[in-house]
Amino acid sequence: MMQSSLLESWRRRWWRADPAALAVYAGLKPMTVVTGASEGIGYALACRFAAAGSDLILVARRPQLLNEAAERIRAHYKVEAVPVPADVTQPEAIAAIETALAAHRAYADVLVNSAGMGLAGEFLSHPPEAVLRLLDLNVRALTELMRHFLPGMRVRGRGGVLNLASLGGYAPGPYQAVYYASKAYVMSLSEAVAAETAGEGVRISALAPGPVNTGFHRKMGSERAFYRYLVVPASAEGVAAAGYRGFAFGWRVIVPGILNPFMALAMRVMPHRIVIPIIGWLLKPRGAQGNDARGQVNG
Ligand SMILES: NC(=O)c1ccc[n+]([C@@H]2O[C@H](COP(=O)([O-])OP(=O)(O)OC[C@H]3O[C@@H](n4cnc5c(N)ncnc54)[C@H](OP(=O)(O)O)[C@@H]3O)[C@@H](O)[C@H]2O)c1
Repeated sequence: MMQSSLLESWRRRWWRADPAALAVYAGLKPMTVVTGASEGIGYALACRFAAAGSDLILVARRPQLLNEAAERIRAHYKVEAVPVPADVTQPEAIAAIETALAAHRAYADVLVNSAGMGLAGEFLSHPPEAVLRLLDLNVRALTELMRHFLPGMRVRGRGGVLNLASLGGYAPGPYQAVYYASKAYVMSLSEAVAAETAGEGVRISALAPGPVNTGFHRKMGSERAFYRYLVVPASAEGVAAAGYRGFAFGWRVIVPGILNPFMALAMRVMPHRIVIPIIGWLLKPRGAQGNDARGQVNG
């Protein structure tokens, strides 16, 4: 307890209360907003926050899956879990989240940006609209949500943003070129804004797991790439536990697992002319599955 309050004081060393700005939040309660919360890592993270007693706003597109996820969380953790079916790439998504927060007399204390998609195959094999859809989701929507909710967090000097990056953000990834580039952006943005807001009470973390056992790889059509056979995927629950813990401590980059931090270091320090062909060999779609994701909505 003593330790956590010392950490909290250090985290807020430059924060000064602005009574007029704080008055806006008087009588409101904190909630955690999780995008991509209906399944996979987002769902597992929502469960971790719920286990710690956070009330939740859960965002994803498919209402049935989302409602079922919310139902399970409410029943198991006895917290509020409010489903907001929305596509975060659409302009009305933020308004829908704000409406749900207002209806519960709440503010977004923590934002977890987990909604994301991948694209497997050669860059030129993807239709332009699939590439733009990925950028819209992994880059634009994530940035817009962070830009929208961070000012309030800064005023309150609490909470923060947990962005889903990837080990893939550490180096270029042939055959998942746009996806890897999008995650490099997430890493860069998160670390830079974390530096800008240091000492103001908010935490900005990038969670960068290696392959995780979710439907993500099947959706993007990479199931038969070598990395799917050679790299043992982590569980979404394990990644969420590491992500939650790292975020609680205010780590700027969280790389879960024992080997992954070494992989991240190697990807950073080894010359690209060595690293990139290895990654390309691991990611290259084998067989016919590579382009399955071309026209799909979900990634
Ligand atoms: N799985 C991995 O190996 C891995 C590794 C490193 C990083 N990551 C990153 O971790 C994050 C989560 O991955 P995951 O494995 O949990 O993926 P997942 O199992 O495919 O889940 C994706 C979630 O995002 C939601 N979603 C997708 N598009 C959306 C949109 N436009 N608007 C709102 N919600 C949307 C999905 O629900 P709907 O389809 O109903 O919208 C679902 O809840 C992603 O950012 C991914 O890049 C994953």
